[in-house]
Amino acid sequence: MKPFRIAVFASGSGSNFQAIADAVQTGKLDVEVGLLVCDKPEAPVVRRAEAAGVETFAFRPKQYASKQAYETEIVRLLQEKQIDLVVLAGYMRIVSGTLLEPYEGRIVNIHPSLLPSFPGLDAIGQALAHGVKVTGVTVHFVDGGMDTGPIIAQRPVEVAEDDTADTLAAKIHRIEHELYPFVIRGIASGNVSLAEDGRRVLWK
Ligand code: GAR
Repeated sequence: MKPFRIAVFASGSGSNFQAIADAVQTGKLDVEVGLLVCDKPEAPVVRRAEAAGVETFAFRPKQYASKQAYETEIVRLLQEKQIDLVVLAGYMRIVSGTLLEPYEGRIVNIHPSLLPSFPGLDAIGQALAHGVKVTGVTVHFVDGGMDTGPIIAQRPVEVAEDDTADTLAAKIHRIEHELYPFVIRGIASGNVSLAEDGRRVLWK
């Protein structure tokens, strides 16, 4: 049987990429990581992919005429590699219709807050500044909005009075590294579907 193939998109450190690659390597996640897509060739995640033996497409958006131009190239690669699921893991760009349309319902994102609270940039800083007592992690399907797609899974994280951006980020990352492989496993095994309302996500 053809393995379930994922492509991970990332822009920075890549600790989520690493958690996914480790879960695959230790047999906890039965998928193949077929591609890393990175919009910053100097990002640490590129070295992590090299070490894990994962092929990488690292590009500089400025070298393309438009977002459509580089996303067209990405779609070509995803199709060539028969990618089943696109996994955004700290990919700090809005995905446009060029990628969304051919992969509709097959792109997921992880976000460091309990959406719909604190979408967009610096969700951890936003949560601290707002003074919430609980924040968390959300994995959702990607649609055309900013962190607005149907929610697949969420986990809460308590905010302590002495938490800083760094200590809270560490707590959130620990949860992300468990939750993302868990959700990918659910999707790969066909246990996750969208309800008829197009909004609620159902787990078998
Ligand atoms: C993660 O915390 C992820 O939730 C966040 O970027 C971080 C990437 O960390 N994503 C977003 O804020 C998307 N809006 P990593 O590079 O170590 O995986």
